[in-house]
Amino acid sequence: MHATSRAGSEHMTADETLSRITILRGQTLAFRDDPFKVGPDAAVDFNSDGGVAIAGGKIVAVGQALDVIARHPDALLETYPDHLIMAGFIDSHVHYPQIDIIASWGEQLLQWLNRYTYPAEAKCADRAHAEATAHRFLDECLRNGITTASVYCSAHPTSVDAFCAAAQSRAFCMAAGKVMMDCNAPDAVKDTAQSGYEQSKALIARWHGVDRLTYAVTPRFAVTSSPAQLEAAGALWREHPTALMQTHLSEHPSEIAWVKELHPGAPDYLGIYEQHGLLGRGANFGHAIHLTARERSRLRETGAGLSHCPTSNLFIGSGLFDLHAARQGDAPIPVGLATDVGGGSSFSMFATMKAAYEVSQLKGYSLHPADAFHLATVGSAGVLQLGHRVGNLAPVLMPTSSSSTFDRDRSWPSACSRSTACGMPFSFR
Ligand code: GUN
Ligand code: ZN
Repeated sequence: MHATSRAGSEHMTADETLSRITILRGQTLAFRDDPFKVGPDAAVDFNSDGGVAIAGGKIVAVGQALDVIARHPDALLETYPDHLIMAGFIDSHVHYPQIDIIASWGEQLLQWLNRYTYPAEAKCADRAHAEATAHRFLDECLRNGITTASVYCSAHPTSVDAFCAAAQSRAFCMAAGKVMMDCNAPDAVKDTAQSGYEQSKALIARWHGVDRLTYAVTPRFAVTSSPAQLEAAGALWREHPTALMQTHLSEHPSEIAWVKELHPGAPDYLGIYEQHGLLGRGANFGHAIHLTARERSRLRETGAGLSHCPTSNLFIGSGLFDLHAARQGDAPIPVGLATDVGGGSSFSMFATMKAAYEVSQLKGYSLHPADAFHLATVGSAGVLQLGHRVGNLAPVLMPTSSSSTFDRDRSWPSACSRSTACGMPFSFR
């Protein structure tokens, strides 16, 4: 139970209600810095009696509860002494059409895609199915404290329209894109290089930057996109530099062997994407388990991010992600934490953090809880270029630039480089 105190809210106008400050009081968890870099003690800002003041959907103050209350004496106070108040979790890689195939038995990646995944995604050609699936997916996100995600829709534009409309109507902060896939897959989930480009372009026009939505150009992976489609995806991303780009990279040994056959001229898996203009800041590569030293150094040099999907990697039997190799050194690769539902076996970011700990143990590195929470919030926000909006508890510092979305070709004003503002704090039992 929580206690709420109110003062005179009965006769307020809608504007007054919106600008009215609410203070959440309880145990607060925020990050001052990156625990991988400075260690947990220096990085974590935990307050056993903290306060988070919110107005108009944005955080306006964070600190000791008594200080925040003293600064905002007229605020509505909600008290949650037994709860942890923190930023919403951010799932940096997930497939909403796959919600019904979680924990599908007995296959590794390529067979799993054919037997379970593509048939589930084919159903999203139907608008009613896509809409119902999108809402069930968002229900699960909320139930698990996930308020932002980077979402793969199916190859059908209607699946993106259904998802974005559902997310918009519920004020989620979401990145999403139509998977582009023109080969090595059943017709029911295929597009062509041309139609994939045109449909994605129309979806960008419809959804990118609308409310809290960001479009992600989404060539599925180098197995199901021909060189012509990868080239078209690269062109599309160049034409829309504020959009994100998401795809799969070096997930499973049998996939990597096939990719090598399909793209014989490339130096390695990452090199295929790079040859087609799909590497850079704002690129989000899922899995990235079996990387070479060259691939890691190109990721470091270009500022691209990775999504670590530990429950999926264990469930599908893909391998053990080397978090330490990604994060070490002066220029760590940005890493976010992801469920990868339906390859992943749970919507719970706690289960996902636990799996990340177990995978790290098997790689000879003990993941600290502070690192795990950081990956699931600030880390994922960084990969999605959303650290100025979500992922931490901090007062919002809006950019002075007129654009509120990320632009790879422009840097933020310096006032924003320290900003780690967040939209929705979330409290747990
Ligand atoms: N590689 C290409 N598509 C997928 C997918 O849907 N899930 C996973 N885990 N890997 C993929
Ligand atoms: Zn995936």
